[in-house]
Amino acid sequence: MENDVNILVVDDEDYIRDSIKLILEEEKYGFIEAEDGFKALDILEKRKDEIDIVMTDLKMPEMDGITLLKIIKERYPDMTVIIITGYPSLETAIETLQIGADDYITKPFNVNDVHSKLKRALESKKLKREVALLTDIVSIYESARFLSSTLSQEEILLEITKKLIGEFGLDGFYIKLFTRKLTLHNAEQELINFLDDEFYAKRVLILFGSAREYEFKTVCNGKNYSVIIFPMYSKDGLWGIFAIYYDSKKKLSNIKKEMLNIYSGQISLALQNSLSFLDLSDGYMQTIVSLSNAVDAKDSYTRGHSENVKRYSMMIVDEIGFPSEFGKYMTYAGLLHDIGKIGVDTYIIVKPDRLSPEEFVEMKKHPVYGKEILEPIKFLGDVPYYVLFHHEKVDGTGYPYGLKDKEIPIGAKILSVADSYDAMTTDRSYRPRRTPLEAIEELDRCSGTQFDREIVSAFKSALKKSKVI
Ligand SMILES: [Fe+2]
Repeated sequence: MENDVNILVVDDEDYIRDSIKLILEEEKYGFIEAEDGFKALDILEKRKDEIDIVMTDLKMPEMDGITLLKIIKERYPDMTVIIITGYPSLETAIETLQIGADDYITKPFNVNDVHSKLKRALESKKLKREVALLTDIVSIYESARFLSSTLSQEEILLEITKKLIGEFGLDGFYIKLFTRKLTLHNAEQELINFLDDEFYAKRVLILFGSAREYEFKTVCNGKNYSVIIFPMYSKDGLWGIFAIYYDSKKKLSNIKKEMLNIYSGQISLALQNSLSFLDLSDGYMQTIVSLSNAVDAKDSYTRGHSENVKRYSMMIVDEIGFPSEFGKYMTYAGLLHDIGKIGVDTYIIVKPDRLSPEEFVEMKKHPVYGKEILEPIKFLGDVPYYVLFHHEKVDGTGYPYGLKDKEIPIGAKILSVADSYDAMTTDRSYRPRRTPLEAIEELDRCSGTQFDREIVSAFKSALKKSKVI
């Protein structure tokens, strides 16, 4: 369509349509005609994005103008509709305006009146578009800000979904990250493989391609989709693909495509950050877990102790029904609770006999060392404090600070029960192990003095459920 502005004229009488055509041609407006409401809806279905204004007669045999107006406003709320009426009455005017008509023109036509009403309608449409565009820009900006503030992939994907499908009305999107770095040369091949897998490239015609985006149409489940692929680059080259697709009947303006291009850059950055954070976190975790294994391995009697404390802590967490986020922290806490023993002389740790008072003073420093080792690692949350307080007792006789019941965090109280149970039920050089039942009796005996009552009873029922006791 060559004209900038296109007007769909719906009237059952040829001469009315012809006379409007003449008026529109004066202003070089494009003229599209329909002799009844059904034909008009058909045209709108196919060419909605080309049409700026619908002018419709009120009295038509097949479908009257009011019904057509209602359907148009329901399906295309942004479409401007001007009513043509030969019987101007206040009631009709009010009724049509209430349903959402933008204006009305009376027959016989006053050419100047028609011109000025069309002009006014177009101006208000332009204004509405600008406001909508501004709203989109603000919303993309806010979303980009959110993406740069989170490292959680789950949150990133949720936000993108909300924005692209919820607000932009797209049908879907794909993100594919490559496991190896690609040169530009084999990036093209990867793109084609991706198209093959996801969009049946054999039926795909690449209409437009640039270093920034590839746009084409495809058929999937009998529906026509437009697809735009934004390659995601990092400083090392192509590292992923971000693709959006939408019903081909919808048209995406160039400004919207440009916004999506900018948005894809933000998505790429957010994903890179979150992945390198994960890598970093993984790296830290691996180091810490191997350190913790090294601590366990210092003494053959405590081998597997951290793993056991983690397992028992999780039994308690599940039994009480804590949120999964807390469970994740308790996994770390269980594995790492004795990490501070790295700082204690090995001879104290491996000593086969009971410790002397001086040695015990040394040994009692391990919770503090543990907290110091773990504190710089941000993703561990409060874990360093669970570690710091895992030898505190609810009656205030524990170490290092002699904290009382409510002052001790729940994570530390869980560790304390899990730690003591594992220590009692495994052999030590200076004493043989106790049976689970004996260990539970001991926990019970110290419940309310050394241990938190609720946690001991939760642990007991968890052990019963897993048939340990
Ligand atoms: Fe400990």
